[in-house]
Amino acid sequence: MSDESLEHIALCPGSFDPITEGHLDIIRRASKMFGKVIVAVSAEAGKQALFSIAERVEMATEACHSISNTEVDSFSGLVVEYARKRGAVALVKGLRAVSDFEREVQMALMNRRLAPEVYTVFLVTHPDYAFLSSSLVKEIASLGGDVEALVPASVLRRLRSKQDNCGT
Ligand code: PNS
Repeated sequence: MSDESLEHIALCPGSFDPITEGHLDIIRRASKMFGKVIVAVSAEAGKQALFSIAERVEMATEACHSISNTEVDSFSGLVVEYARKRGAVALVKGLRAVSDFEREVQMALMNRRLAPEVYTVFLVTHPDYAFLSSSLVKEIASLGGDVEALVPASVLRRLRSKQDNCGT
């Protein structure tokens, strides 16, 4: 990457319900490509979310603590409007498989139409995390499976306390 890109701000937007090691791999790599990365947690994930917006922001903040040029924030409304408000030039997204491609390209093209000056940058997920998703983590954890290597400690703790509160 050029020195110039290190002056730029990028967003890593998502629901982060919850943040996983796959997300963190993308955030770490984005933090080396841009001067600052804002991990933008969508408040819109709403009713289907396991974790509240406050919990999702807290977990992401703890998990990103050691990645120096990151900030975690929440947003509501259009992601491109939030990008404009924060002066971000790019949205960085992870691509796992062909199954992600259609939805992600659709969103990228729509975002481009809404805000042509905000670029979408895709990073291909690390093969170790190609199978990983927040939904699978929630399902496996709720059925008592081991997700320790797949999520940061901040998430594991909260997943376990949700299970305890559900009496499982
Ligand atoms: O982690 P996810 O669920 O794949 O993240 C999707 C997210 C939050 C990035 C996307 O739904 C989004 O940008 N939502 C904000 C509302 C918006 O701008 N919608 C139009 C997208 S074309």
